[in-house]
Amino acid sequence: MITDFKNKTAVLTGAGSGFGLECARIGARLGMRLVLADVQQDALDRAAAEIAALGAEVLPMRVDVSKAEQVEALGAATLARFGAPHLVFNNAGVGAGGLIWENSARDWEWVFGVNVMGVAHGVRVFTPMMLKAALDDPGWRGHIVNTASMAGLLTPPNMGIYNASKHAVVALTETLYQDLALVTEQVGASVLCPYFVATGIDSSERNRPADLAASAATRSQQVSQAMMGKAVGAGKVSAAEVAQKVFDAVAANQFYIYSHPRAIGAVQVRMEDILQQRNPTDPFAHKPELGEELRKALRA
Ligand SMILES: NC(=O)c1ccc[n+]([C@@H]2O[C@H](COP(=O)([O-])OP(=O)(O)OC[C@H]3O[C@@H](n4cnc5c(N)ncnc54)[C@H](O)[C@@H]3O)[C@@H](O)[C@H]2O)c1
Repeated sequence: MITDFKNKTAVLTGAGSGFGLECARIGARLGMRLVLADVQQDALDRAAAEIAALGAEVLPMRVDVSKAEQVEALGAATLARFGAPHLVFNNAGVGAGGLIWENSARDWEWVFGVNVMGVAHGVRVFTPMMLKAALDDPGWRGHIVNTASMAGLLTPPNMGIYNASKHAVVALTETLYQDLALVTEQVGASVLCPYFVATGIDSSERNRPADLAASAATRSQQVSQAMMGKAVGAGKVSAAEVAQKVFDAVAANQFYIYSHPRAIGAVQVRMEDILQQRNPTDPFAHKPELGEELRKALRA
């Protein structure tokens, strides 16, 4: 639990846009030192200039979080410049969709590389340095926030690759919480599970590396892209509000962070399916016209 953020260090991945950038803005206002990591150089440059102009000390680094050695270099640079970070936000992520059997091997490699291995590398690199700082100083406090999604708690159709990756992040982070509790009271963990929020997530393909290039989009992938764009664009909660929830949760040592608490009802239905050994409930039961539209689009 970190209650006073002033002069503390935060590492944020995916800091060039969306939740990462909004958290950097809040961190700067709170007087934090900020390590900004992103794979998109122009977005990173803009973010670093803006955050530095707010008066914060900034270390920007172009990092592809799916690459072990690049996250290790980020860890080494952070340690050399600021020492162990107090707040680590493993947040970089990408979206992809379509019927699950239509995703290519490259789709799996890209989405799991960024969404799952990116978080795994962040945890692997930063947790040991945080634990060492905690051991050296009983007053030291740290916190790790990993970004999953409501798709880490639900299994909406036509976006299985994303659901599977975000379920992995929830499981990884719940276990991180339990593992940390075995060894320290000084370092905590939270998982961010947003619902649809307007960010750059619906144009994730902009940062897809050439060696994992997408094949021509199938019909289901086009439908998924269109629906995702619509849902994200219609989001009523802003990325800035979600970022504030992240800081509030860190200060309160709250594990699950939701952008849309009302969406949790669907998690309860899913859990009841599991507990009662009932087949998965129709996710469109409350909005049958949406299910009908999707079925029509995919069967046409
Ligand atoms: N916006 C939503 O509706 C929503 C909902 C649930 C979860 N999320 C999750 O929130 C996180 C942040 O996404 P966002 O919504 O702010 O989208 P965003 O696209 O605005 O920001 C994501 C940032 O991650 C960066 N990035 C992409 N691949 C990277 C890589 N390999 N290495 C380093 N950086 C990389 C991008 O350049 C971008 O700046 C993601 O994990 C996403 O899955 C978003």
